Amino acid sequence: MKGRVAHICSLLPPARVYADVGCDHGYMAKYVLSHGLCEKMYITDLHAGSLKKAERLLEREIDAGRCVPVLCDGLSGVPEPCGFVLIAGMGGEEIAKILERDGIPARFLLQPMKNSDKVRRLLVSGGARIERDYTFSEGDGPRRYYDVILGSASGGDSYSEKEFRFGRDNVRGKSPDFLLEMREELQKTEERLMGRLGERSRAKLEALREEYREIIHEVEGIVRHD
Ligand SMILES: C[S@@+](CC[C@H](N)C(=O)[O-])C[C@H]1O[C@@H](n2cnc3c(N)ncnc32)[C@H](O)[C@@H]1O
Repeated sequence: MKGRVAHICSLLPPARVYADVGCDHGYMAKYVLSHGLCEKMYITDLHAGSLKKAERLLEREIDAGRCVPVLCDGLSGVPEPCGFVLIAGMGGEEIAKILERDGIPARFLLQPMKNSDKVRRLLVSGGARIERDYTFSEGDGPRRYYDVILGSASGGDSYSEKEFRFGRDNVRGKSPDFLLEMREELQKTEERLMGRLGERSRAKLEALREEYREIIHEVEGIVRHD
């Protein structure tokens, strides 16, 4: 196992009953069971084809009664409360919809592919406590960035608007990967917008950028020597 899946698995704590919502291939459920992190694991998926993949991978655990596949939306078909719920690889809107309808689990790890702010807002307005909320990256060539949110249903929390938008640990300087992502995003956006400008506007903008960079460089030098 490597990359995103390995990173997420490394964060998973023990709990008696687990659920992996949107399990698809079932790799994370397999990790949890094979590392003895839970006694019982529900694996759910909305699509029969996806659930089948996990059922093949987890055949032995299912036969032993340690893993229970449920074809359903979110946690709607899971017959008992789960101490820990994992929802990874789905859009943030979908995750928020599941949590709003099925309730915020006692403990959770969520890894939205986009719209993470919607998940954070839902959690905080629902009284959850967020323990970790940061961006990590993987990939040797072009890097890919993922948000991960770990927490529990109760305890409450308060977030600033910036923390909702970008992730609390990121804003507090705890993720070097977040800074990389911001720089990359900014550069890509600049390049895209530059491509839309006419020849003269582009030259003007580049001259301005060059001039500003020089001034910033000079001033930074003075500050360092003070
Ligand atoms: C991209 S896969 C992610 C698989 C795995 N969790 C991971 O992170 O690698 C998303 C899976 O979520 C399932 N899914 C999407 N919406 C769902 C929902 N509301 N309830 C259950 N499963 C859902 C999809 O069928 C798909 O198998």
